[in-house]
Amino acid sequence: MATGFEQIRTFRYFVKKKIINNGNEKVIFMDHVDLRHLDQQICTCHLCPLSEGRKRAVPGSGPAPTDIMLVGEAPGKEEDLTGEPFVGRAGRLLDAALVQAGLERSKVFITSVIKCRPPQNRKPKKAEIDQCRPYLQAQIEFLHPKIICLMGNTATQAVLGRQGVTILRGQILQDRFLVTYHPAAVLRNRNLMNDFVSDLKRLNTWEL
Ligand code: URA
Repeated sequence: MATGFEQIRTFRYFVKKKIINNGNEKVIFMDHVDLRHLDQQICTCHLCPLSEGRKRAVPGSGPAPTDIMLVGEAPGKEEDLTGEPFVGRAGRLLDAALVQAGLERSKVFITSVIKCRPPQNRKPKKAEIDQCRPYLQAQIEFLHPKIICLMGNTATQAVLGRQGVTILRGQILQDRFLVTYHPAAVLRNRNLMNDFVSDLKRLNTWEL
């Protein structure tokens, strides 16, 4: 099986191939056709055993390019059935929080660290995250978000290699990443909702 590094190289090659096809030395952002190609790769991926149990992979949805990207953990049951991100209970809470923060869902790109549902919604394993990370990296590269909201520890660990959402939340890290709670954590503890909404408001007021 390919290592994470080899997969990243594969993606870089894929990107370069597109550049040459377009007669353009630099990709500024990915156009819809190319993003669809990436979606297809995700939807037909068999790099890890989660692909065997999935009904549908969930690449993510939203505008391309995008100013704001939200990254969750992994698809749940309803996402697995529909192929759409955050359409279950956590998704409905996220929708409500976005409204309170003055953000339109259609204006943000929403995805998760891993694109296939883990059995019984268990936490993704490190090996699964490592296999899937190149897809998220390619999405970030192609979509060029100005700010990326990492929702929960899995996203924060996968992207920044750091844990501790309760300490990191509300902070902008590396001028590009905002850490906040995962909506499922807010579902379990409604006292977190105010902080969650105020974090999302920061996305809205971030210089875009
Ligand atoms: N939780 C996530 O992290 N992602 C989804 O798409 C749904 C629930």
